[in-house]
Amino acid sequence: MDPTAVGGEKPYRTAYAADVSEAKAGERVRLAGWVARRRDQGGVYFFDLRDVSGLVQVVVDPAEVPAARDLRMEYCITVEGTVRPRPAGMGNPELATGNVELAADQLEVLSRSEPLPFIIDDRSEADERLRLEYRYLDLRRPRMARNLRARSVATAAMRDVLNGRDFLEIETPTLIRSTPEGARDMLVPSRLRRGDFYALPQSPQLFKQLLMVGGVDRYYQIARCYRDEDFRSDRQLEFTQLDVEGSFWGREGVLETFEAVVAAVVERLRGVTLNLPFPRLAYAEALLRYGTDKPDLRFGMEISDLSDVFAETGFRAFSATLEAGGVIRGFNAGDRQLSRSQIDGLETRAKELGAKGLVSAVVEEGGSLRSPTTKFLSEPETTAIVKTLGGAPGDLLLLVADTARTAAQVLGQLRLDVGKPAGHDELVFLWVIDFPIFDELESGDLAPSHHPFTAPVDLIEMRERPRQAIAKAYDLVLNGSELGSGSVRIHDPEVQQEVFKILGISAEEAESRFGWFVKALRYGTPPHAGFAMGVDRLLAILQRETSIRDVIPFPKTQTGIDPMTGSPTAVDPTQLAELGIALRVGPDPEDPDREDG
Ligand code: AMO
Repeated sequence: MDPTAVGGEKPYRTAYAADVSEAKAGERVRLAGWVARRRDQGGVYFFDLRDVSGLVQVVVDPAEVPAARDLRMEYCITVEGTVRPRPAGMGNPELATGNVELAADQLEVLSRSEPLPFIIDDRSEADERLRLEYRYLDLRRPRMARNLRARSVATAAMRDVLNGRDFLEIETPTLIRSTPEGARDMLVPSRLRRGDFYALPQSPQLFKQLLMVGGVDRYYQIARCYRDEDFRSDRQLEFTQLDVEGSFWGREGVLETFEAVVAAVVERLRGVTLNLPFPRLAYAEALLRYGTDKPDLRFGMEISDLSDVFAETGFRAFSATLEAGGVIRGFNAGDRQLSRSQIDGLETRAKELGAKGLVSAVVEEGGSLRSPTTKFLSEPETTAIVKTLGGAPGDLLLLVADTARTAAQVLGQLRLDVGKPAGHDELVFLWVIDFPIFDELESGDLAPSHHPFTAPVDLIEMRERPRQAIAKAYDLVLNGSELGSGSVRIHDPEVQQEVFKILGISAEEAESRFGWFVKALRYGTPPHAGFAMGVDRLLAILQRETSIRDVIPFPKTQTGIDPMTGSPTAVDPTQLAELGIALRVGPDPEDPDREDG
């Protein structure tokens, strides 16, 4: 970085704060930045000057430099002086520049700051809403500044790998036709065609496929996507994907490419070389062993099926479950030394998660089980449980008897509650492959497990047993988070129509919603495949943040508002009139987030 930015006659700075080291002792330097933390000692003022590179201590005598008297927190200044070592014992080991200071003899206030709504450092945790209202101040915190930089480093690494492999970076439109991909579309009314709406893309899915029809061999885009769905710590209304597609390409090519991309990002942000290729796990196995399609493999506690153990059981709760086609599964939560009330807490949690109950038992010396349920179990059953779950004395075993779906869901979540490591020091990636093409809804209807453009492994199987049929789809998982997903696509228009039919979309509806797309497939479409990875999620984990909001420069709150600009807001009635829109419903008076309502 060249610190010399010429403003008027004199450069604002000749160095960055972080460059002020003992090697520069005796040299004159000029710095520019913000006043962070200031204290007065015996008539001399000390303050930390913060710039993009870091902090350095400045010492100034107001008798010599009167401008120093007016300094307040976050004033933007330029300051010049001589670098000198700090007196012995006065160093600050927490600061990279902690052994030196700048003895200033010139200082100019470039702009003043109002009193601050919160202290700008990484130690104080201000309320998030306040942080977002003053995001420009929040971004001055070293941690947030590091996250912004990491984001830029990460996207540069992605571009380097893909450009090096002859991928073209191509933009696709963000005002598109509404073709829901699973979430609710965000809509934009058209002024020129009153009554009609554009949708913001949930992803560039169909456009990237059309690029393949258009003869593009390898495409990527760092694409903004929009989904009107409920918030979570890893979801925003608008988010960013690294979106990739290639023709004459298949699963192996996609997986190898993303491994290279992810490895480059991790190398640059963490300085760690990942072992490639990433392990792979079939969807059905992931569900069985971890109760989820995005398993956190940083720890064991694998779930085992115990149904066979109880085939002849006299324990009514278990036998009834098995007779109804359910399963009995459990895992070994290890030696946890939980109190009775903590174990009761786990049972309450299991019930909240949808289980009818939770059987908990502690392994005793000699292999027997201590549990309120033990009296209902035969000795061979007890022995088999302990053996299957690898129980050692002191281990807590947790069992659920329910439908396969509920047992997986409940045990998968309990496993996380009990075992998930805090933070993200360790990184464990894996591919989950062999997803079903369709998910069965509560209603019995089928919905696409990924999206309706995903190719089946076997066409005949899809026609005859759609509920069991496997798709050429794959997900990338990191530390229990779904980072991305993709698939080999359907390139045959007839197969595409069949999928719509299985999904219960009538020929007319398919024609009106997707006709324009299926038409394109009729012009010599090459086989193609692709993938999209959530950039925000990857960054949040690599930067050890718990929410993607902390790696997005200007995110929305949990309730979808931007407290800084006040969006969303009501608009001027003339704007609505131009769009031909009359509101039927006024603002919700109950909405606590509404400031204007
Ligand atoms: P999918 O819908 O699985 O696939 O999205 C891919 C990845 O995008 C991220 N993501 C989100 N991140 C933040 N906020 C959200 N609301 C949000 N929704 C999704 C996740 C997710 O894994 N077009 C297909 C990909 C393909 O088939 O090529 C798609 O969008 O990390």
